[in-house]
Amino acid sequence: MMSWEAPLAQRVKNLKPSPTLAVDAKAKALKASGVDIVNLSAGEPDFDTPEHIKEAAIKAVRDGFTKYTAVAGIPELKDAIAAKLERDYGISYTADEIIASTGGKQALYNIMQAILDPGDEVIIPVPYWVSYPALVELAGGAPQYLMCSADDGFALDMESLKAMINPKTRAIILNSPSNPTGAAYSRKDLEEVSRLAMQHGFYIITDDIYDEIRFDGTPPENAVSVNPEARDRVLVVNGVSKTYAMTGWRIGYMAGPAAVVKATAKIQSQSTSNPNSIAQKAAAAALAGPQECVREMKKAFAQRKDYILERLGAIEGVKCVEPSGAFYVFPDMSAYYGRKHAGGTVSDSLTLADYLLESASIACVPGIAFGDDRFIRFSYATDIGVIKEGMDRLEKALGGLS
Ligand SMILES: Cc1ncc(COP(=O)(O)O)c(C=O)c1O
Repeated sequence: MMSWEAPLAQRVKNLKPSPTLAVDAKAKALKASGVDIVNLSAGEPDFDTPEHIKEAAIKAVRDGFTKYTAVAGIPELKDAIAAKLERDYGISYTADEIIASTGGKQALYNIMQAILDPGDEVIIPVPYWVSYPALVELAGGAPQYLMCSADDGFALDMESLKAMINPKTRAIILNSPSNPTGAAYSRKDLEEVSRLAMQHGFYIITDDIYDEIRFDGTPPENAVSVNPEARDRVLVVNGVSKTYAMTGWRIGYMAGPAAVVKATAKIQSQSTSNPNSIAQKAAAAALAGPQECVREMKKAFAQRKDYILERLGAIEGVKCVEPSGAFYVFPDMSAYYGRKHAGGTVSDSLTLADYLLESASIACVPGIAFGDDRFIRFSYATDIGVIKEGMDRLEKALGGLS
């Protein structure tokens, strides 16, 4: 019989698997085999989904709310999303300007499929969330990288941004607060980008998934809240995964011009149909219900952020920008590159992450996954005792390099 090498499309051959999920999987496998792993790689809150949200889902099951729904989501969820956007951003969206999807990730996927033709450019500030380049490329688009510096707190370099804009520029992705840096853009920069989008006719895809996990006292802000005139240029992406500890429920959404929402609904109707009916009920309860749980989780994240920053700050050669939000720190570790250990040399973020995993059983994500090799991402969405153990081990492991 002829040997059969399953043929695959070029599209998928070009696609790299999500490196953060890969690190998490490796850490989980090591843990399962009995290794005492300190996992600082996870991109999800360690808290359980709040009880009243779970109850809404249980009620949905009991009520038989287990059938297909409207592709773009049930009215109850759309109302709750609209109320959240009005409450936090002061912008009102009608039902035909909102679509619920299977996570913020699907909302982003749909957007790229809906707005990009082959060769269209999307500006992605670096460091970026791991999936942006792949999402753009899967739609035939060409990511254009805008380097941002830790020395400026990862602010947008406006001059470089202006120089990148050309007739092929279709969109820019803003993620504030950011995964992996925790940095948030200033109001002034958001205003400036919204003016540029109006002037040159490109979209701003604003990924606001961490908008409520913010420690600097600034309320949620995005390119449309600071400049409502840019409304038809801005595609707002958000979801319940991070704010309500609901990563497994898979509910995200997009709000923006009705024409784009209609286009993404068409894509969704031919791919996944509606997001899970039970999870939609739970997400509606999360957004419309009591928000005390969010304040409590945010308080815990803030304490952990202060602790991990203090510990990192005490390690020689480690430089870290203070995050404004989310639950990650992104320290510059490049002072350790070139140093040696018994098994070899630490030469970049991958070899450093490997060394930390092998020698100290710390799981973290190498900065190269986010487009900047000088850094490492630690998540502090875990118990403070685990963070303390992780920092003790980190200090020792770095001290062991010569
Ligand atoms: C910046 C950013 N955007 C979007 C997402 C997608 O989240 P979800 O698909 O769970 O809504 C994540 C999750 O890690 C993220 O960090």
